[in-house]
Amino acid sequence: MSIIIKNGRVVTSSEDFTGDIFIESETITAIGKNLPHKAEQMIDASGLLVFPGGIDPHVHLEMPFMGTFSSDNYETGTRAALHGGTTMVIDFILQTQGKSLNSALDEWRGRSDGNTFCDYSFHMAVTDFNEKARGEIRGLVEKEGITSFKVFMAYKGALMIDDRQMIGLMNEVRDCGGIVTVHATNGDMIDYLVAKHRSEGKLSTLYHYLSQPEITESEAAGRFVDMAFYTGVKSYIVHLTCEGALNQVREATMRNQKVNVETCIQYLLLDASLYENDFDGAKWVMSPPLRQRKDQETLWAGIEQGLVQVVGTDHCPFMWEQKLMGEKDFSKIPNGHPAIEHRMELLFSEGVKKGRISLNKFVELTSTNAAKIFGMFPRKGCLGIGADADIVIFDPEKKHAISAETHHMNVDYSAYEGWEVTGKVETVLSRGKIAIENGDLKISKGHGQFIRRST
Ligand code: URP
Ligand code: ZN
Ligand code: ZN
Repeated sequence: MSIIIKNGRVVTSSEDFTGDIFIESETITAIGKNLPHKAEQMIDASGLLVFPGGIDPHVHLEMPFMGTFSSDNYETGTRAALHGGTTMVIDFILQTQGKSLNSALDEWRGRSDGNTFCDYSFHMAVTDFNEKARGEIRGLVEKEGITSFKVFMAYKGALMIDDRQMIGLMNEVRDCGGIVTVHATNGDMIDYLVAKHRSEGKLSTLYHYLSQPEITESEAAGRFVDMAFYTGVKSYIVHLTCEGALNQVREATMRNQKVNVETCIQYLLLDASLYENDFDGAKWVMSPPLRQRKDQETLWAGIEQGLVQVVGTDHCPFMWEQKLMGEKDFSKIPNGHPAIEHRMELLFSEGVKKGRISLNKFVELTSTNAAKIFGMFPRKGCLGIGADADIVIFDPEKKHAISAETHHMNVDYSAYEGWEVTGKVETVLSRGKIAIENGDLKISKGHGQFIRRST
């Protein structure tokens, strides 16, 4: 099957021109102005933007967490991703403490294999670093193409590792050429504050926020950055939210250290005042919590300064009934919010349309940088000859409102209900196949492939 996309405004992280893209089977084979190629199908993209499919490197699908499972599975989550212009996701495998990394991989494959609409990969979250786990790292990198290893500095008793384990893991991952990614918040400080608030009968949603003050994140980010500097491992901080944590990264640049940083769409757009509305605030109970307006300003500036390279979602949805598990105690509200479908349109509308970022920066943040950092470039993250034809055709002027009534995620509320956005995904190609057209899904479950990544 061949397709030609004609007369679109082709935007990559470095280019911006009106032209054509020719696709044969799964791959882009020609790009240019007035291409003479004859194709079986022609898509007229006049007046529309054409950019690389989004890569969301931070999603949690059907993940066992806090006594339940996130409500989007691989089928519903990757379908919603495509509707929003994301053509590749990286999900997290969680090692069970006391068990091996490979058994966790088998468990995650059991849920995901054959069930995805878009392409996907896994980060391996190492929650119990010991000699056995150390011995499994090289095989994951070299045989499975899983090159990124996540650590949690919080969620003690389930996911958190200590600093001794962290150093051991960093050394091993460095030797294997991989990257260590981190949920950087100080678990002990948070647990202390959670226990204190609960013992004082302070159980409302607001206390989720008050149990994770900025210092809990800046302290852990600084400690992680120091350990990465000491070991020399390639590093990445996930869902960075605040000024204090970003300043730790800024300071590290003064000793010529490079730390990759991801923030998430919610930390750019939403703030902690949402926790003041009684239990309704549970929609935004996530860790780290939403911060203050001054932190949003810091994150937008950090993007401009090149300190923040990726905007993900940390998509981890729960049905309202699941959120109600914490109605009487904030510490029992499952942490996470739904966003996989809306990252691209929200960032375009609030970022590009409002003049905060350029179109090229938009592509960098939503696709190219994640592909580069996580070993998929130039197969993914760009519109280049030989790249997978993961392409979004986007109407930059179409206005619409976000709502749970119309979204495709398996969750019964929207964290952005009623938000008016400018810009809409029109057509999405996933490895050369039209996946979304006029809002309709055109491919079947199982189209998505596991993507082996390199170092
Ligand atoms: O609240 C969140 N972020 N839930 C998902 C797990 C994590 O910490 O990323
Ligand atoms: Zn996290
Ligand atoms: Zn997460």
